[in-house]
Amino acid sequence: MTTLDVMRQVRRKADSGKPNAPAKGEFMPDPVIRLSGISKIFHTDEVETHALSEVSLGFDAGDYVAISGPSGCGKSTLLSVLGLLDTPNAGEYVLSGRSVANLGLAERARIRNREVGFIFQAFNLIGDLTVFENVELPLVYRGTPGAERKRRTLKALERVGMSHRRKHFPSQLSGGQQQRVAVARAVVGEPSILLADEPTGNLDSKNGTEVMDMLDALHQGGATICMVTHDPRYAGRAERTIRLFDGRIVPDPGERNPV
Ligand SMILES: Nc1ncnc2c1ncn2[C@@H]1O[C@H](COP(=O)(O)OP(=O)(O)O)[C@@H](O)[C@H]1O
Ligand SMILES: [Mg+2]
Repeated sequence: MTTLDVMRQVRRKADSGKPNAPAKGEFMPDPVIRLSGISKIFHTDEVETHALSEVSLGFDAGDYVAISGPSGCGKSTLLSVLGLLDTPNAGEYVLSGRSVANLGLAERARIRNREVGFIFQAFNLIGDLTVFENVELPLVYRGTPGAERKRRTLKALERVGMSHRRKHFPSQLSGGQQQRVAVARAVVGEPSILLADEPTGNLDSKNGTEVMDMLDALHQGGATICMVTHDPRYAGRAERTIRLFDGRIVPDPGERNPV
């Protein structure tokens, strides 16, 4: 069975896929994410870099959004703020109904662990942990009991077709396999949002397409995804694209659904 077959099976099992958008006048659910006027400035020596300037956006449950723009325009900074890896200098951030822009370190880490799954360009697996232990890690931090941890870790590995490699170490895997493990680690805790920063950047096109197929299947299963990508073919798979330039959101010429 190919990875895609596994993902298709998962997709069929997911009861109804993406929730339907409510009709006009019906109750509108709160968005998963609402950023208002977010700014991020980096100070190095005497240089001030305005990495993000007054960024406002919203994601609803089940959204699949691509972020694009030239190198240095603030894409990774935006993902770091969204994923609570970094705090903005100004602005409001509401995640799952809760204001999170100004939380302390420990509380931020706790919410990040529950709400966010990360997929990085460089995979970022821990080299001296096995595949199983890498995927299990978010649940260890969360204090999930052993039996439940094992069940969920194996399920996540099955979803990405990597169960048979669970005792391997990352260095024994190809890049494509490592990224599949990273996807399993990102989804094991069933986060509110998946953030992917150029997830295919270190992969050849066959492996890149496989990882993108996996994200598509997760989206079909109801996941909310925000992905940074340089590749227009992959950005085209998302439902909308947010374009950044010099830390600001600019209109997207090919936009189908305006922000
Ligand atoms: N930790 C940091 N310290 C200082 N400057 C940073 C830091 N991170 C990013 N920057 C600067 O902020 C800007 C946006 O960076 P980044 O978000 O990484 O862009 P992108 O991901 O779009 O290539 C760049 O000018 C970059 O040099
Ligand atoms: Mg970047």
